[in-house]
Amino acid sequence: MPQLTVVTRNGSEQTFEAENGFSVMEAIRDHGVDELLALCGGCCSCATCHVYVDDAFFDELPPMRGDENDLLDSSDHRQANSRLSCQIQISGKLDGLRVTIAPED
Ligand code: FES
Repeated sequence: MPQLTVVTRNGSEQTFEAENGFSVMEAIRDHGVDELLALCGGCCSCATCHVYVDDAFFDELPPMRGDENDLLDSSDHRQANSRLSCQIQISGKLDGLRVTIAPED
């Protein structure tokens, strides 16, 4: 299974295996990282699953849809490497993916 590393807001890092087909948000939440609120459950309507993706993987991600882009625009903490983690599906090509949970809006 692909490995996923999550950096939380206090800078602590956790690496664990994530199941193919699940979203990065689901993998983080199921691993017990509760600061990723994911309030809408992955419907792309809340932006509380905002993460920064390490540059090495940014080009491997699925293209951003308009609704994700609009939601990220509503964040005060958007950066060039911002994505909503519920919109990224775990797959083999993302093995080693490292994401940092963005500050809360
Ligand atoms: S969980 Fe709500 S937008 Fe990702």
